[in-house]
Amino acid sequence: MSRPLTIAIDGPAGAGKGTLARRLADCYRLPHLDTGLTYRAVAHRLLANGWPLGDAPHAVEAARLVDLGNLDKATLSAHAVGEAASRVAVIPEVREILAAKQRAFARQPGGAVLDGRDIGTVVCPDALVKLYVTASAEVRARRRLAEIEANNGSGEFAAILADIERRDARDMGRADSPLKPAADAHLLDTSEMSIEAAFLAARAIVDDALAKRDGA
Ligand code: DC
Repeated sequence: MSRPLTIAIDGPAGAGKGTLARRLADCYRLPHLDTGLTYRAVAHRLLANGWPLGDAPHAVEAARLVDLGNLDKATLSAHAVGEAASRVAVIPEVREILAAKQRAFARQPGGAVLDGRDIGTVVCPDALVKLYVTASAEVRARRRLAEIEANNGSGEFAAILADIERRDARDMGRADSPLKPAADAHLLDTSEMSIEAAFLAARAIVDDALAKRDGA
């Protein structure tokens, strides 16, 4: 039996890893899990009940209730929920519970695509392909502003940039499973790349790993 095609994608908020993960999942016909949604689901439950984000016992209870088959992307995508998710994500017991669910998803016979912050380092350290997708904070802020404006909203570049830098600092600075590239991850800096170019680069990396696996 050959190793399943597990693709682990990590990177900071707004680097384009979600889009890349969906494109790769489509291309290789693999199930995809956006693990950020699991942290967002925990944060959303705390917010909805008026519980503080540092309330570990309630956060643990919320983590146990996370159902991977029932993650409401529309509700969980709100910006405030992402910010809150980054705060509950520092609680080790929450990470342990969610990582176990994510690992169970990853263990599919044909493989899977998972994207997040600690997939290559903690959740799927044996993934066949690991990608670390990044872009400068300025580029990510510019993209976020363009996205907001495309949806008829408005925002201020400096505030968005400060927000991204704060989130990076929290996600990279936490003690448990901080965001960092796995030693064997392929780095993909999308600062100067279109999404199409990033997808083609990622596909070349995956095809290469498959050829090596299959001895071609
Ligand atoms: O990718 P996202 O913006 O949906 O993630 C929201 C937050 O969840 C992120 O700032 C940190 C946390 N997270 C994490 O700690 N580990 C993951 N594997 C995915 C997300």
